[in-house]
Amino acid sequence: MQNLQFTTEVEARTSSVYQRLKKVIPEVEWPIHAPLIDRINTLKSELNAIILAHNYQTPEIYHGVADYKGDSLGLAQMASDADADIIIVCGVHFMAETAKILNMDKKVLIPDIEAGCSLASSITAQDVRNLKSQHPGAPVVTYVNTSADVKAETDICCTSSNALKVVESLAEEKVIFIPDNYLGKYVASQTEKEIILWEGKCEVHEQFTGQELRDYRSSFSNIQIIAHPECAPDVLEEADYVGSTKGMIDYVDQKRPENVIMITECSMSDNVAVEFPEVNFVRPCNLCPHMKRITLSNILSCLENGQHEIHIDSGIASKALSSVQRMLSIK
Ligand code: 13P
Ligand code: SF4
Repeated sequence: MQNLQFTTEVEARTSSVYQRLKKVIPEVEWPIHAPLIDRINTLKSELNAIILAHNYQTPEIYHGVADYKGDSLGLAQMASDADADIIIVCGVHFMAETAKILNMDKKVLIPDIEAGCSLASSITAQDVRNLKSQHPGAPVVTYVNTSADVKAETDICCTSSNALKVVESLAEEKVIFIPDNYLGKYVASQTEKEIILWEGKCEVHEQFTGQELRDYRSSFSNIQIIAHPECAPDVLEEADYVGSTKGMIDYVDQKRPENVIMITECSMSDNVAVEFPEVNFVRPCNLCPHMKRITLSNILSCLENGQHEIHIDSGIASKALSSVQRMLSIK
C-alpha cells in the first residue's frame, strides 16, 4: 500500500463526504480516513468494482466508499443487478457467500476472510441432515445468517423481515427453523405451526435485556424502541417495532420519532443518524466484533491484491440458490 497523505487535493475531494459525517466522526480523525476513502474510490472506478456495505459497517465505510447499503439479503440482491466485474462485500462471510450464490459468474471479495458470525457458526450441514432424519417430512427453514453448505440442505431460506411469512407459506404443520433460536421463538409466538428450534444465538443481540429497555423507556419521554428479532423474547416484548436492519431504518424514516433507540449493533445508529438529523438517537453500544474486522485499510488491500475471493462448489451453490430463490418467490 502506498504512503497516503492528507493533501489539500484529498481534503477538497472528500469534503462533501465529511460534511455529512461530521456529526459522527471527530474532525481530528478525518485526516486518517480521507486519504483511504479517496484512494478506494479511485481504484473502484479503475477496476469496475462495487462496494456493498451492511448497515453495521462503520460510518466512514458506509457513507465514504459504499455504492450499495442494506440488510443482508438486500445486499445480495443489489449485487445481482450491478454491472460490475468485482463485488466487494463489507460485511461478514455468509453475506459474501450469499452474494456469490446469486452471482456465480462474478468475482466476489471480502476484505477479511475471518469475519464470521456466531449464528452461522452454530450449525453445520451435517447438523441439518441429522435434524431432517429426526423429524422426517418437516421442511427446513433457514435464516440467511448461515453458510452456503447449510443453505444447500435447506428447503427455503428466510430473513429477519420475512421469517413468519415464509413459515406460513408452507403446507406442513411442523417446521424445522434454524439456526436462530430467538428469531425462531419470535415466529413460533405468531403461528399455529409446531416449530423445531436450534440453539444458535447472535452474540451481539443476546446481550440486550428487557430490564435495560424498561430503564430507557422511563428515562426518555416519547421514546420509540425498535429491535432486531435476534434479541431475546423479553426484549422483543418491550419493543414498539421488531424488524430487520432495513425495516428499522424504514420505520425511522416513516415515523420520524423525537427519540429513538435501535436495539441492535452499535454502528447502525451512527449511520442512520447521519440521514435523519432531526431525530435524537439514544445509542446503546453492542459491537459485532466480526463486522468490525472490516476497515478502510483492508478494503484498500482487497482492491489492490484481489483478496479474499469467495469460492463455492457449483453443486452446493446451485442447491443453496434454490432455497434462496424459493424465498424470493414468496410475495
Ligand atoms: P439483517 O439481515 O437484518 O441486516 O441482519 C443481519 C445481521 O447480521 C443482524 O445481526
Ligand atoms: Fe452475526 Fe450477530 Fe454479528 Fe449479525 S451481529 S453478523 S448475527 S454475530
